[in-house]
Amino acid sequence: MLFRERQVICLRIKSLEFDTMTALAPLAGVADTAMRELCIGYGAAFSVCEMASAKGISLGDKKSANLMTITKNERPAGIQLFGNSPCAMRLAAQKALQYSPDFIDINMGCPVPKVVSSGAGASLMKNPALAGSIVKAVVQEVGDVPVTVKMRSGWNDETKNAVLLARICQENGVAAVTVHGRTREQMFALPVDYGIIREVKQSLDIPVIGNGEVFDGKSAAKLLYETGCDMIMVGRGAMGRPWVFSQINAYLHDGTVLPEPAVSERMRVMLRHVKKICEYKGDFIGIREARKHAAWYVKGIRGAAFYRAKLSQIESFDELAEIAFHIVSERSD
Ligand SMILES: Cc1cc2nc3c(=O)[nH]c(=O)nc-3n(C[C@H](O)[C@H](O)[C@H](O)COP(=O)(O)O)c2cc1C
Repeated sequence: MLFRERQVICLRIKSLEFDTMTALAPLAGVADTAMRELCIGYGAAFSVCEMASAKGISLGDKKSANLMTITKNERPAGIQLFGNSPCAMRLAAQKALQYSPDFIDINMGCPVPKVVSSGAGASLMKNPALAGSIVKAVVQEVGDVPVTVKMRSGWNDETKNAVLLARICQENGVAAVTVHGRTREQMFALPVDYGIIREVKQSLDIPVIGNGEVFDGKSAAKLLYETGCDMIMVGRGAMGRPWVFSQINAYLHDGTVLPEPAVSERMRVMLRHVKKICEYKGDFIGIREARKHAAWYVKGIRGAAFYRAKLSQIESFDELAEIAFHIVSERSD
């Protein structure tokens, strides 16, 4: 199911052209280079790096800098920055340019207490004036590089102000916005508010990307058609399922429902994924980080709980390969 047919251009964001309508969401601690490369291979329109702290970048923190590294196989790719001040964000954007991002994304949706308590992430939705100043500073700094913003529907049900914030972003030169149709208070609880994504789309001239609870072709089509958004972004639906992009793209193309790959194929992709993680991060860190990915790959497989327990303790690639072999040899599909 690994295919990436060159198709007609589905969407332009300034000078960027995308040939599919499904992008990989930024996923801190999950969508690293290995996962982003895999998802692009399966037809994600673009990928976004894990969010990097403007403060960390301006202090020369190596970890923050590493988060901005983009390989050729994960492009088009954006660098996502979070911060609470125009000055720090401007400086961070300037440094981010050294990594040649295809675009720079500003995080206005992160709900994590440590981030919001500093006035960054979703907290910016409570302060549209500051959000506007941050956007303006970054846009001015990066010249022709498109700047995008990812936000939630609002802080809470009483203050759903995505439309206002998105308008401010557009006025300050943002090239596209992504709206995750949940408030900060909702975190990941249902429902996703399609109405507000639709309202943002109707209020803006720039492209709007819808996000929230897309796990397959049908949920992708529902989000697209019910909101009128230009593109969709998939987060958790790609965890342990990078092929979800080919499934969604096939469905949006002509209604084809591609089945979940056979267990043997899932295990093959898992091993490829983990090999990549180890290549980029070294075996010691790579295998430890691979444990959670491996657990996602076995979700829904018969005996998954048993395998998850084993996978949570793997110490080497060979151990993982042995478990994968055992899983495949246990079944006929
Ligand atoms: C583990 C995890 C990490 C995330 N990290 C980021 C991030 O770094 N930046 C960001 O804007 N959103 C982040 N998000 C939010 C996702 O990008 C996305 O908006 C959210 O998961 C909703 O989409 P979904 O229903 O397709 O998962 C993260 C979500 C998860 C589950």
